[in-house]
Amino acid sequence: MVLYETLRLYSAVPLIVRRATTGADHCGVKVPKGTLLLIPIAMLHRDEEVWGADAGAFNPLQFRDGIGRAAMHLNALLSFFLGPRSCIGQDFAMPDNCNLC
Ligand code: HEM
Repeated sequence: MVLYETLRLYSAVPLIVRRATTGADHCGVKVPKGTLLLIPIAMLHRDEEVWGADAGAFNPLQFRDGIGRAAMHLNALLSFFLGPRSCIGQDFAMPDNCNLC
């Protein structure tokens, strides 16, 4: 829980960059093909709408029921990012006995 909370507030990777390979429409926001997207993980991990009013506080206990229940959104913890280019070393970085994942 302490490791996950540390990754949330002090992520080793605070910003991810992706380029849109096709055009897309995200809830009315048009993203043309080729657009460079900056995904500010450090800011998203401090979003009070997602992590609660005390989002800026160091509170490992919010992970006591697992990563999926720590925030308002199942995939809110982005430290290793998501999808096909997410971190392949996640299992090396985290302890073997981590049963929260
Ligand atoms: C706390 C430790 C770590 C964190 C927070 C972390 C985080 C990340 C993140 C966010 C990405 C995606 C970067 C991007 O797409 O721009 C990534 C990619 C990657 N990570 Fe990690 N990582 C960690 C440890 C490791 C370890 C221990 C290894 C290897 C043993 C590793 C190997 C890789 C590789 C090879 C990629 C590129 C994957 C790809 O592009 O398909 N990481 N990591």
